[in-house]
Amino acid sequence: MHIGVIYSRLRVEEKWIFNALKDRKISYERLLDSEAIFELTNPNFDWSRFDCILVRSISTSRGLVLTRILNSFGIPTINSHTVSEICSDKIATTIALKNKNIPQPKSLVAFTEKQAISAGEMIGYPYVVKPTIGSWGRLVNKVNDRDAAEAIFEHRKVLGNYQHHIYYLQELIEKPGRDIRAFVIGKKTPVAIYRESEHWLTNTALGAIATPCKVTPELHEACQRAAEAVGGGVLAVDLLEDPNRGLLINEINHTMEFHSTAPLTGIDIPNLIIDHILQELK
Ligand SMILES: Nc1ncnc2c1ncn2[C@@H]1O[C@H](COP(=O)(O)OP(=O)(O)O)[C@@H](O)[C@H]1O
Ligand SMILES: [Mg+2]
Repeated sequence: MHIGVIYSRLRVEEKWIFNALKDRKISYERLLDSEAIFELTNPNFDWSRFDCILVRSISTSRGLVLTRILNSFGIPTINSHTVSEICSDKIATTIALKNKNIPQPKSLVAFTEKQAISAGEMIGYPYVVKPTIGSWGRLVNKVNDRDAAEAIFEHRKVLGNYQHHIYYLQELIEKPGRDIRAFVIGKKTPVAIYRESEHWLTNTALGAIATPCKVTPELHEACQRAAEAVGGGVLAVDLLEDPNRGLLINEINHTMEFHSTAPLTGIDIPNLIIDHILQELK
């Protein structure tokens, strides 16, 4: 058994993963994505020595290329390319959830400023517009009225790249000053946190405070269904508590950070990830 961990930067999560592998005397290698070279037409490096590669790249696009190539070489990755592709793209995630009738915010897509304004008015103000690929709450905007809509869409059109010209709009969920981040590792939902903020964006990267959240049977069930809908694996499921509809799935992350969750809750996420890899390889 030989495991590779491919990463961009030694964040605390990677340190914990390496320490856990070392403590368990599992044979592993650290691979920097910045140093990788792949000869696609003739795999020039003996990748076959790996039974599985855990992908911890920070860049979404780099991670997707890595999983595509490694899976094509017959090497399993956590997460798989198919799962990563769905989770990295909010439109793909919305469709995957919809296909399984999983409750989520109403979501619309348009391609021009004019149609984005119309789509937004079909939802009603205030609503949310976000990039289809992105994280840390970047460019996730609340649109309060038509003036704001015109300003945001004009900025995206003139200053943005082609990805910003895909307008992904959602109804604003009146969540109670927090959202829920739950960690799914295979069939388990070992831990969840609330992310509380006075701001409507509750990303910890933007200063939201993490507090423990009990994994109720209802939360576990919602997370497992969501994870299964995108193909399962090691995932962070983000949920919004709608006052009338209950738990809605907001997004699913395939390369999650857990530097706040692990110390806060005492749950040993790195070892659970390793348990999952070993289980998958049985
Ligand atoms: N439809 C929505 N209604 C209410 N709040 C939302 C909605 N969409 C996103 N948010 C808030 O914005 C934050 C960031 O949005 P998210 O879709 O998770 O983008 P990112 O991938 O950048 O984290 C969420 O954690 C949540 O607090
Ligand atoms: Mg998010």
